[in-house]
Amino acid sequence: MRSAAYPIGVFDSGVGGLSVLREIRRELPAENLIYVADSAHAPYGDKAREFIEARSFAITRFLLHCGAKAIVVACNTATGAAVTSLRSHFTLPIVAMEPAIKPAAAQTTTGVIGVLATRRTLAGQNFVKLFARYGSDVEILAQACPGLVEQVEAGDLAGEKTRDLLENYVIPLVARGADTLVLGCTHYPFLRPLIQEIAGPNVVVIDSSDAVARQLRHRLVAHGLLADTGECGVEQFWTSADPTKTAAIIAELWKPDIKVAKLLEPDSQSAG
Ligand code: DGL
Repeated sequence: MRSAAYPIGVFDSGVGGLSVLREIRRELPAENLIYVADSAHAPYGDKAREFIEARSFAITRFLLHCGAKAIVVACNTATGAAVTSLRSHFTLPIVAMEPAIKPAAAQTTTGVIGVLATRRTLAGQNFVKLFARYGSDVEILAQACPGLVEQVEAGDLAGEKTRDLLENYVIPLVARGADTLVLGCTHYPFLRPLIQEIAGPNVVVIDSSDAVARQLRHRLVAHGLLADTGECGVEQFWTSADPTKTAAIIAELWKPDIKVAKLLEPDSQSAG
């Protein structure tokens, strides 16, 4: 039987999900959080759906083994590829990403919104459904952004290559009238200052990490699993890549002096 004292498991293809972890920590200060960065397999965005699904299952099993009471799929790409099968296979609460198209459609004044995401997210059923739902009210410009995840994984948040990539992706959207940009990949909030600078002050840049953290709170409350001890929770970090390298990036994006352990993967063969 799961109890409120158990941790919450959070995963992403790499360090991008830390943008979601940050909001979870803000919303749920007493929770213990276990974060898995599947950096050895990032980026997911151009990989086969079956591969991403297999990775998502392997990581979810690992998090369950660690005692997770709930899972957060802090990756839009893994959400599109795997969340339906994860939910039909596992009984614990699983919270996942949805690009913030609904709030973007509600607040645009030009009637044009841009969505930045991976190729796989934009090709997935979840996005197609959102497009069908809101695409008649507003013009939705979908922009795949290959290369950006690699830049964030390398800790390059504002270098020349990152700027060049972003200029190529963002400027055409603004030129076509987008006044709201949706960050549909959890790596991209770390690029927000540069995206905002390139898009200009009249463009609003939004993502869904705070909504996901609130949704997680609701689900925990509904299941009687909310930790409300008044104590500060702790974070544990795991990676499928070299822990020293991942620790250096996590220290930059999260906070210094964190420890990162190597992910133990009994079923990595079947995942890849
Ligand atoms: N953070 C992941 C997402 O939200 C990145 C996907 C990738 O690794 O390409 O989609």
